[in-house]
Order: sequence, then C-alpha cells, then structure tokens
Amino acid sequence: MHFQWYPGHMTKARRMMQENIKLIDLIIELVDARIPLSSRNPDIDELGRNKSRLILLNKADLAQDKKNEEWLEYFRGKGYTAVKVNSKKGGGIKSIQSAIQEACKEKTERDRKRGILNRPVRAMVVGIPNVGKSTFINALAGKACAKTGNKPGVTKGKQWIRLNKNVELLDTPGILWPKFEDQEVGLKLAFIGSIKDEILQTEELSAELIRLLDRDYPGILEEKYAAQMSGGCYDCLRQIAKSRNCIIRGSELDTEKAAGILLDDFRNGRLGRITLENPPADG
Ligand code: G4P
Repeated sequence: MHFQWYPGHMTKARRMMQENIKLIDLIIELVDARIPLSSRNPDIDELGRNKSRLILLNKADLAQDKKNEEWLEYFRGKGYTAVKVNSKKGGGIKSIQSAIQEACKEKTERDRKRGILNRPVRAMVVGIPNVGKSTFINALAGKACAKTGNKPGVTKGKQWIRLNKNVELLDTPGILWPKFEDQEVGLKLAFIGSIKDEILQTEELSAELIRLLDRDYPGILEEKYAAQMSGGCYDCLRQIAKSRNCIIRGSELDTEKAAGILLDDFRNGRLGRITLENPPADG
C-alpha cells in the first residue's frame, strides 16, 4: 500500500462521498477484521445518517475467528447488520444478498407503505484505502467490473452494477480517509500496511508490533522465530534477525531487514490469524 494522505485528499474524498451518498439507500462499510475500529472513520456516521448500513468485517481470514464473532456481536449490538467476509477467496460472499435485504428492511417496509414496490436497493461500498473495497466488489459482482488496486479515478462517470432485480451497486467505491491523528490508531493502521512504510521507522514499528504480540499472543514469536522477550523488544528483534539469517557486513545483525520480515509475515497471515483490537467493554 503506497499512499500519503494530505488534507486535500480528505476534502476531495469527503466531497465525492457527499455527492454519491445522495444517490444511494445503503452504505456497505468495509472494515479490516484485524482492527475493526481503527480501520473505520466515524465521520461516515454523520455523512450517512438516514441511510441503511451494512458492516463487513473484511479480511476475516487474517483475524482470529473467535474475535470475529465478538466483533459481529458488537456491531449488531449497535443496531447494524454485520457479516464477516474474505473477499479474496469469496468466503461469506453468498450471505451478502440476504444481509443487504436485512439491512434495508425498514426502508423496504417504508416504501411498501407508500405504495412503492420492487424498487431496487441502491448501494455503495465505502472504506479506507486498502481495506479491500475493489476486491469485494469484484467478488460480489462475480466478474472484473471494478478495478482492484488503489487507483483513484479509474472509472469516470457513475456506473451501476446490477447484482439482481433487487440490488444495484455503484461501481466506484467511496474512499474514507483514515484517522491517523490518534497515535494508537495510526500505529495499528501501519501494522496492517495502510500507511506508506517509507515514511515510518520500520524497526520502531516492528518493536511496537512485538510488544503487542507478546501481550496478546504470548509464545507466537518463540514458535515462529525462536525469539524470546526477556531482553525486551529490540533484543527480540535481534533474535528474529538471527533466526532469519539477516546479516550485513559479514557479521552484523540486520535488524531493519528482520523488521521488514516480521511486518510482512504478520500482514500476510504467516504468523497465524491475529486480531489487534478487542470490542470496547461498554458494548
Ligand atoms: P481497496 O480497493 O479498498 O483499496 O483495496 P483492494 O481491493 O485493492 O485490496 C487491497 C489488498 O487487500 C489486496 O492485496 C487484496 O488482495 C487484499 N484483500 C482484499 N480482501 C481481502 C480478504 O478478504 N482477505 C485477504 N487476505 N486479503 C484481502 P494486494 O497485496 O494489494 O494485492 P494481491 O497481491 O492480493 O493481488
């Protein structure tokens, strides 16, 4: 993921969102199952008020399944329809049609009372960059009608994808701006690869990831890299360098390279299924 997010980007994304939201009944909001709150932008609540909402825990294959269930319960407790999906492999996609009907049931009922029958639901997919919007649209539509990759401006003009007689989907997803201002949130977005690595201190970032993994998934680093935490995060990183044979200038440990390996292993699920945040205790 390579992007930097400037105030100009945010203003443009917000304007696009305001325009497109007028056209739709349902917002399909994608969040990353590993960090379901940090990968949301709560501004969508304000922008999308009076619209039906379906929340998708995407990349559910990379997150712990027990936690996925807890998060679904959390979002459902807030009154949203929520489903977990793996857009890359198509997991959970079959349940989307019925989830859409469920999320729109009040609207459909209102229409029915006003004598409007069989009007298709118009929906738009939204989420922060790299959360999987294009992959999801492709999986749902069953063909490559939305370009994957984060390339704004690929589609000109509004195009609707007719999923069936009941649902039409705007083919251009709405891009929500990530909220990096909060340190914790920024860090988690960096762990999952949503912030350009070049602007981050890779070693520092991986030390933070080591700290978090050791707290929530004790033993995982030992199992994967034979690395222990007794000497602290940076020492643990050195052990990872040793176990992965990251050496420079003949004998020095290349901790920068080791940091990259750790982050990559985490992002690609090679450390197993890991969720980095829990639903707030307040429900
Ligand atoms: P965006 O439109 O929201 O910006 O995201 P996009 O669909 O481009 O997806 C971003 C990356 O996330 C892609 O990986 C995509 O394959 C991956 N992805 C999307 N959904 C899922 C999912 O449910 N599970 C997993 N494991 N990955 C998912 P990439 O590395 O950029 O491309 P590629 O190597 O997969 O082609």
